[in-house]
Amino acid sequence: MKRTKILIMAVLAAVVSCTQHRTTTVGTTPEIENRVEKLLSQMTLQEKIGQMNQVSAGGDVANYADALRSGQIGSILNEVDPVKINEFQRIAVEQSRLGIPLLVARDVIHGFHTEFPIPLGLAATFDPELVEEGARVAAVEATAQGVRWTFSPMLDIARDPRWGRIAEGSGEDTYLDAVMARAMVLGYQGRNLDSTSMAACIKHFVGYGAAEGGRDYNSTYLTERQLRNTYLPPFEEAVKAGAMTLMTSFNDNDGVPSTGNTFVLKDILRGEWGFDGLVVTDWNSMGEMISHGFGTDRRDVAEKAVNAGVDMDMMTFGFISHMEDLVNSGAVKVSTIDNAVRNILRIKFLLGLFENPYVDVEAAKAVQYAPAHLDAARRTAEESAILLKNDGILPLKPGARIFVTGPLADAPHDQLGTWAFDGEKEHTVTPLKALQARFPGKVSYVPGLSYSRESKPSFAGVTAAARRADAVLVFLGEEAILSGEAHSLADLNLQGSQSELLKAAKASGKPVVAVVMAGRPLTIERDLPSCNALLYSFHPGTMGGEALANLIFGDVNPSGKTPVTFLRTVGQAPLYYSHNMTGRPYSGQTLLADIPLEAGQTSLGNTSYYLDYGAYPLFPFGYGLSYTTFEYSGITLDKAEYSADDTIRVTFTLANTGKYDGTEVAQIYVRDLVGSITRPVKELKHFERVALKAGESRTVEAQIPVSALAFVGLDGTKKVESGDFLLWVSGDSASGESTRFKVK
Ligand code: BGC
Repeated sequence: MKRTKILIMAVLAAVVSCTQHRTTTVGTTPEIENRVEKLLSQMTLQEKIGQMNQVSAGGDVANYADALRSGQIGSILNEVDPVKINEFQRIAVEQSRLGIPLLVARDVIHGFHTEFPIPLGLAATFDPELVEEGARVAAVEATAQGVRWTFSPMLDIARDPRWGRIAEGSGEDTYLDAVMARAMVLGYQGRNLDSTSMAACIKHFVGYGAAEGGRDYNSTYLTERQLRNTYLPPFEEAVKAGAMTLMTSFNDNDGVPSTGNTFVLKDILRGEWGFDGLVVTDWNSMGEMISHGFGTDRRDVAEKAVNAGVDMDMMTFGFISHMEDLVNSGAVKVSTIDNAVRNILRIKFLLGLFENPYVDVEAAKAVQYAPAHLDAARRTAEESAILLKNDGILPLKPGARIFVTGPLADAPHDQLGTWAFDGEKEHTVTPLKALQARFPGKVSYVPGLSYSRESKPSFAGVTAAARRADAVLVFLGEEAILSGEAHSLADLNLQGSQSELLKAAKASGKPVVAVVMAGRPLTIERDLPSCNALLYSFHPGTMGGEALANLIFGDVNPSGKTPVTFLRTVGQAPLYYSHNMTGRPYSGQTLLADIPLEAGQTSLGNTSYYLDYGAYPLFPFGYGLSYTTFEYSGITLDKAEYSADDTIRVTFTLANTGKYDGTEVAQIYVRDLVGSITRPVKELKHFERVALKAGESRTVEAQIPVSALAFVGLDGTKKVESGDFLLWVSGDSASGESTRFKVK
C-alpha cells in the first residue's frame, strides 16, 4: 500500500516536472512569475505601453531622461559605452516610479570587440562546441559593458548567394542551421543564467532568406509545408534550447508581412511551441507594413502587430503613440497588453537586471580582447577556412621567399566582415602582418589593388615582383560592405580587376596560392586555373591573418566544409543540394555546343538542367579538402528495418590515408525514397568532426533517431512515413555509396 502511494507520487512528480518543462521555454520559475504579476499589478496602462517601446538611444543620455523617468522606454539599442549605459539604467531604476531596469540591446553578431568569423564562416567549422565557445566570448565581452541582449543568431536559411545577408546565417541547410542555432543560444545565454548571460534573439521570423531573386527585403512565397519542413525547424530548435527572444522579419510571405502574421507568431510560436519569451519587431518593420500596403497608418499597423503577437516595437513608435487610444477604443484588449508586458518583464527578471542593473566600468575594460578570446577567435578562423583546390603546393615550407599581393592582404576593416559594429580594426591581425611577424624580412608585398572593387589596366609590377619569390600569396575577396543587410549583388564574380591580378601573379610562373575572404560564396570557377591552391575564408574576423598563416604553412590542417553550395555561375541560383526529386533527374545531357544546327525540336530525353551549365555546382554542400586524405569503409547499419521509435546505429571506419594529421567532418545523409509528397534527394541528418593522426583509422558509431526522419506530409501532420530509405556516410553531399534500410 505504502509502496503504491510512493509510486503514484513519483509518477505525479514526473508528470508535474514534465508539464512545467513544457509550459516554459525560457526557464521561468513560480517565483519569477509572482514577481512579474506583482509588478504588473502596480503598473498604469502608460507604464505598460512604455515597456513595449524600444528606442535607438546612442549618444546623449539627457535626451532620453524625461522619457525614462516617466517609464516610456522599456529597452534601448545601440549604446555600448558602459558609463552611459550605467547612466541610462540609473535614471530608469532610481528616478522612475517603479524602477524597472532597461534591456540594453546590440547587434553582437559574430563577436563583440573580438570578432570571430562571420556566421557563414562559423557554420563552415561544423563544430558546434567551438561556435558555442565563441558566442560565450561575445557574451562575456558585451555583458561586461552592460549589453544584455543581442540580436543574434540569424537562422534564415539562405539558398541564393546574391542575398547579402547570407553572410549572417548558417547557409542553406536546415539541420546544420538548427545545430548552430542551439550552440549560439547556449553560448550567448550561458548554460546557467548569470551576469554574463546575454539574451539571444532568434531572427528573422520567418522565411526572410528566401527573398525573391536574392533582393533584400523582397517578398517570399513559402508554402506552409516548406515553412514547416525547411524554414521553421532551426527556430523550433532554438526555442527548445531556451532562446529568450525572437525578432519578426521584414518580408511578407504570400502577402502577409511577418510583423502582422498571426499564424506564425501566435499559432505556431506561442501555440505549438509554447514560447514564453519576448517578440520584438525588426527595425521599423511595423511601420513598413504601411509601405507594404498592409495597413493605412501607424495606428493601424500598431493594432495589427500587437494583435498578431508582437510584444515590443523597435523604432516605429507605433505602440507608444497609439496604444493607449487603441486600448481605450477596444481595438486592443488590456489582456493583450498585459501578456506582452509579462513577456518583457520575465526576461528582465531572468537576467537578474532588477538585482544588478549596473556594470563595473573598470572591470569591463579588462575582458575585451582577452588573450583567451583572441585564441578562441583564431582557432575558429582556422577551422572555418575551406580548402577548395590544392595541387600539392600547400602547405608551404617555411623558409620560402614569399610575395604577398591582393586587396585583402592587409585590409583590417574588411576582414572583420559585416555587422562588426564594435570590432576595432586596430586590433585586427591581417595576413600580411601575421606573415611579416612570422618571417621577418622574408615577405615582400605589393597591394596590386587597394580595395576589392578597384580596376586597373595592368599588373606588370606584380608579375615582376612575383618572379623574385618562391611562392606567391594572393588575397582576394570582397570588402565587408559588399555583403550583409541591403547589400545584395547580381554579379558574383570577383569584383574589379581581381581576376586579372590573379592571372598576373600566375604569369610569373611561380606557385600561386589564392585566398578568398568574402561574405558569400562567390563564383570563382574562372579563377581556379590561375592558382595552384585556393583557400576560402568567409570574412575571418580579428585573428584571421594569423589563422590563415597557420593554415598556409601547415601548423594547422584545413578542415572547414562548405555550408552552402558554390555556384559555377550566378544564373544557377538558387541551387542547393537537398532539392526535391524531379520527374527528370539530370543524367549528363547534351550541352550547348553539342546541339546540331537546325536541330528539330524535342524534349525527349531532356532533364532538369541548363543547356550551358548543366545541373551541377562548382563545389557541393559539405565539401572541403585537407592536406591529408580520408577513406570511408565498412559502412553498416545495426538493423535492416526500424520502427518509428528506434535509433539507427551507423558504424563506419574512417582512415587517414595521407601524410598529415587531420580532421574530417564525416557527414550522414538520408533519402526517403517514396513519400506522400516528393522528398529531397538527400538530407543531412548527422555530422561529426573526427581527428585522426596520419595513417590512423578508427571505427565511428553515429546514432540517428528514426524520429529525425519525420516531415510534414500530405495530411499536414509531422511523422515518419514507412518505406525504404538510402543512407550515405561521406565527406560531402555529392559523394559516397548508399546503404538501404526500411522503416516499418
Ligand atoms: C536588421 C536586424 C537588426 C536590427 C537592429 C535591422 O535593420 O534587419 O537584423 O538586428 O536592424 O540593428
